[in-house]
Amino acid sequence: MAENKVLYKDGDLSYCILTQDYKNEAHEILAEIFCDMPACQTRLECNSKLTRKIVKEFWFQYIGCDMYDFITEGLSVIALDTKNNEIAGIMATRHLLTCAEYKARYPKHEYEGAILVDLCAILDEEATKKMPELTEPNKTVEMAFLGVHSEYRGKNIANNLVRLSLPVIKAAGYTYASLIATSYFSSRVSEKNGFTSIHEIDVRSLLWKGGKTLQNMKEPHGHYKYWVKKL
Ligand SMILES: CC(C)(COP(=O)(O)OP(=O)(O)OC[C@H]1O[C@@H](n2cnc3c(N)ncnc32)[C@H](O)[C@@H]1OP(=O)(O)O)[C@@H](O)C(=O)NCCC(=O)NCCS
Repeated sequence: MAENKVLYKDGDLSYCILTQDYKNEAHEILAEIFCDMPACQTRLECNSKLTRKIVKEFWFQYIGCDMYDFITEGLSVIALDTKNNEIAGIMATRHLLTCAEYKARYPKHEYEGAILVDLCAILDEEATKKMPELTEPNKTVEMAFLGVHSEYRGKNIANNLVRLSLPVIKAAGYTYASLIATSYFSSRVSEKNGFTSIHEIDVRSLLWKGGKTLQNMKEPHGHYKYWVKKL
């Protein structure tokens, strides 16, 4: 903890840069939190063969592809509960990947959860067509995985994580921050922090492998949005 640069304190919560000390915990907790994404909840409710364990393993594998960058680039912020030294929330951030890097980085996955990764790739492709400057070298970071542990939600932690990350990203010399919001709540956080939505998809009407896989996603969720902020 002593080595973690503290950006802000709020009661028992300390917001600091993610370092190697918390790598394993951050990886594990993000995989757990991402099972609660509205899309994962929708799939779990609609497919009796799918279990939370399968979804968590899927996320663990995907997040693992980025963990190195999340730490070495020094742009990720965690909210640490100093009472128990546990991570309450994370904004995991890395440089924006080009489409080719994106395809090369993540393994092909047979499991239907891969729709979530495919969706982000579609959004990324369409958004960067509208704003090609985002893909210029060292111009943009992607605020890739935003998550708050279920016991800590609704306390402004996601908003604080994004708010505190922005000056860190700017100080590192980037011009833009991008965030793909897969939940209404993360869209709210983006909007509150001055991001602009440049592309969105109603995932409920999206056809994937011949079916409307996410048509039962509950309100207020259902729109995936690609948000950008000029720093
Ligand atoms: C999305 C998530 C990170 C939000 O974290 P959080 O710390 O609870 O969010 P905040 O307290 O900062 O609130 C952000 C906004 O969402 C709203 N919100 C959060 N939880 C809510 C709930 N259960 N019901 C209604 N609104 C809610 C807040 O009111 C706030 O909006 P406002 O400014 O209009 O009031 C968290 O719910 C989460 O980790 N979910 C699972 C993973 C996920 O979906 N990640 C998003 C990937 S982009």
